[in-house]
Amino acid sequence: MTVDGLPMVVPTTDLPTRVRIHEVGARDGLQNEKATVPTEVKAEFVRRLAEAGLTTIEATSFVHPKWVPQLADAEQLYPLVADLPVALPVLVPNERGLDRALALGARRVAVFASATESFAKANLNRTVDEALAMFDPVVARAKADDVHVRGYLSMCFGDPWEGAVPIPQVVRVCKALLDMGCDELSLGDTIGVATPGHVVALLAALDEAGIPPSVLGVHFHDTYGQALANTLAALQQGVTTVDASAGGLGGCPYAKSATGNLATEDLVWMLRGLGIDTGIDLGRLVATSAWMANRLGRPSPSRTVRALSHEDTEEQ
Ligand code: HMG
Ligand code: MG
Repeated sequence: MTVDGLPMVVPTTDLPTRVRIHEVGARDGLQNEKATVPTEVKAEFVRRLAEAGLTTIEATSFVHPKWVPQLADAEQLYPLVADLPVALPVLVPNERGLDRALALGARRVAVFASATESFAKANLNRTVDEALAMFDPVVARAKADDVHVRGYLSMCFGDPWEGAVPIPQVVRVCKALLDMGCDELSLGDTIGVATPGHVVALLAALDEAGIPPSVLGVHFHDTYGQALANTLAALQQGVTTVDASAGGLGGCPYAKSATGNLATEDLVWMLRGLGIDTGIDLGRLVATSAWMANRLGRPSPSRTVRALSHEDTEEQ
């Protein structure tokens, strides 16, 4: 480590030169909090993330408010952050969600499918194919309006009800989402059970099926401490979009074994050491997560946030 609190830069030759971080703390992080965070605090969180240099910040979800009460303020929150000079994707499960997002001027939306029947039922009250049918008009209408569409795919590595998820099952739904018109996919390890060999095997199978790493993002939850190792494995296969959550907030209310996402700070620390610049001010990001941890009343699970923040000097 250098004296300015950053890792020494020692690049390797097998990695991309640029990585785009898709920040999900305000959505994946806050959707799982027991206490509902006030809208103004969420807006400040998003603003601070933008000031720290994040350029894609998932802001909220236009889902049914009874299903995710923590994000029921999407209509109030979105206008508070809409003017920030960053991309602000939002989750939309169906046409109702798309209508709500478009009415506020959203230009990036994400649908969220499941590789398993159990999670499709738990999260969307649909079978896998019924959920795909629900997304079809959403994607078609969004694309007709030139709105960017991300397709999430959950349970790509394991499922709490079904156990190991066969790779061909994941490939099938990825193809369906791309055929529908999604611009990019995000491979979700919703309950954090992936290990690097599994990541390499899935990426190879997708590549073989005509789905290259250039259209893929990876979305690791850190339940077993594997998120960063899995990310490195994905980068070595050519993936350049990585989802992460400031301070390691996260989880999924409809998958009880899901814990926090890969912490953005831990990712930025590793990328910095590898000489991959993300344009992110790590000090500001750590201060933001320490501030949010204070609001949530518990320490950040991110190792980097804990290593670099000092409680007595924590920004309020
Ligand atoms: P449903 O109960 O089947 O809904 O839920 P429905 O289609 O039968 O409609 C019932 C009522 O809900 C109707 O109202 C609709 O208008 C209303 P009524 O006519 O009875 O008065 N409704 C809505 N209201 C507001 N906004 C909407 C909306 N849609 C319907 N968008 C539904 C189906 C998809 C709505 C529900 O299951 C839902 O909202 N699910 C969202 C679950 C969720 O957000 N989960 C977390 C995100 S996914 C995740 O975290 C994983 C990820 O991080 C990747 C990873 O880690 O794997 C992305
Ligand atoms: Mg997630």
